[in-house]
Amino acid sequence: MDLRAVEKSYARWAPVYDRTFGALTNVGRRRATAMLSELGGAVLELGVGTGLALRHYGPRVTVTGIDYSEEMLAKARAKVAAERLANVAALCRMDARDLSFPDDSFDHVAAMHVMSVVPEPERVMAEIARVVRPGGTVIIVNHFRGNRGVLALAERIASPFANLLGWHSDFDRERVLSEPRLRLVAEQRLPPLGLMTLIRLVRES
Ligand SMILES: C[S@@+](CC[C@H](N)C(=O)[O-])C[C@H]1O[C@@H](n2cnc3c(N)ncnc32)[C@H](O)[C@@H]1O
Repeated sequence: MDLRAVEKSYARWAPVYDRTFGALTNVGRRRATAMLSELGGAVLELGVGTGLALRHYGPRVTVTGIDYSEEMLAKARAKVAAERLANVAALCRMDARDLSFPDDSFDHVAAMHVMSVVPEPERVMAEIARVVRPGGTVIIVNHFRGNRGVLALAERIASPFANLLGWHSDFDRERVLSEPRLRLVAEQRLPPLGLMTLIRLVRES
């Protein structure tokens, strides 16, 4: 998807996101935020969306969220205000391919349900590797393309409709694993049905 398509798609999604896709995908957010809350420190959440994960970070974490969609960010800002989420340091409009943070700015980075949406995911992974400190953790939650069966067929059928859907249904897992500074340390399929996968990477020194 190009950035204009992302903007248009998520302006449409914002009013209904929490009650639709957002409601079906909470397991990944809960697991990722639990892992990061245990580690503690400064976390960058890329593509923070409507901020569904924000309330789940523990008190030892300070979160900065970025997203390109003004409409999604407005929902996130409303949650922070309504729930008085004191550990959210900032929510900014930014392109994940071109982050305005210095190198090694964050202890950890999370990108949940984002990598199959962004244009140029390899460039986003390079930006993640640049802004996370050596030894820091990166957590990616996403749906990846299957190779067999009815689901793989459905993914291929839906794939030309990425701009309408708001994500690529047949996204290749290898595209988030090719950044040489980030090493894969763990991977788990998530319920329901293993549709989403959580990948944990560590930034090499
Ligand atoms: C499916 S939503 C996921 C939102 C949230 N992470 C969650 O788990 O609910 C994808 C988000 O990625 C954002 N996004 C897509 N491309 C982006 C880019 N280049 N830079 C920043 N955000 C982007 C969209 O605006 C949208 O809010």
